[in-house]
Amino acid sequence: MAQTVLVTGAASGIGKACARMLLDQGNEVVALDLKREALAAALPPDNQGRLKLVAGDVSQPADCTAAVAAAVKRFGKLDALIHWAAAHSSKFWTELGADEMNRILAVNVTGSFLMAQAAGRHMQTRKKGAIVLTASGSVLLGATGGPSGQGGPAYVSSKAAITGLVRSLARAMGPDGIRVNAVAPGVTDTPMINSYSAETKAAQGARFPLGRIARPEEMAAVGCYLISDAASFVTGEVLVANGGSNFG
Ligand SMILES: NC(=O)c1ccc[n+]([C@@H]2O[C@H](COP(=O)([O-])OP(=O)(O)OC[C@H]3O[C@@H](n4cnc5c(N)ncnc54)[C@H](O)[C@@H]3O)[C@@H](O)[C@H]2O)c1
Repeated sequence: MAQTVLVTGAASGIGKACARMLLDQGNEVVALDLKREALAAALPPDNQGRLKLVAGDVSQPADCTAAVAAAVKRFGKLDALIHWAAAHSSKFWTELGADEMNRILAVNVTGSFLMAQAAGRHMQTRKKGAIVLTASGSVLLGATGGPSGQGGPAYVSSKAAITGLVRSLARAMGPDGIRVNAVAPGVTDTPMINSYSAETKAAQGARFPLGRIARPEEMAAVGCYLISDAASFVTGEVLVANGGSNFG
């Protein structure tokens, strides 16, 4: 069934693929990103008026509530939030300062909470809704950052926090008919991994039993599954989609 979905991080990578996928499936989409011009370039207007673009910073409460208000104003409701927006940090522990740590936590943890809170407040009035946040396979790996260019302690700890956030919100919002889950992507071919060194990038495919890294559409599809009726009894889960690299 068609839904009204707020997709964050929609100017790039997985979020862009997700917004396009939802539009292709006939849904109404509010697409949010920090980068206004990149957002407009990523998602040209559809001729059926099912797309609304919103520039905003997910670490700012007013921007989160404005995005939900924009959905309600344009489409009359918000059925689901798929929150992909995040900031990356590959600083090694010896180089990581409080400023960088706090910036990453503000975007990735506080931003996830604020988006879920804004969406949840609206969904609570309708006694239904689905929220999907984004964790990361780097938590399972304990990625260190540094010369590899992979996520370091700021990024990894921010993504680990999503497990607790999902469980807490799923328990609190469940009685209002709101499901809360997360996707934990493995390495996915998006601009986020541009920070990887050539050596690290080349080594990634071999880590996965499937022998390659993910395409953004494969992660987008997991987010779309979690907001669908097919996942109607799934809540409080972090769905790891990493080509089997847990045991690889
Ligand atoms: N690509 C990977 O290998 C990988 C692996 C694990 C997890 N993830 C997670 O998947 C999600 C999507 O990542 P991606 O690879 O598509 O990244 P990406 O860098 O391609 O896209 C992230 C988008 O988020 C936006 N953004 C950043 N800060 C923002 C803010 N404060 N407010 C609003 N928008 C903001 C950026 O402008 C960008 O368009 C992220 O949560 C990321 O941590 C990605």
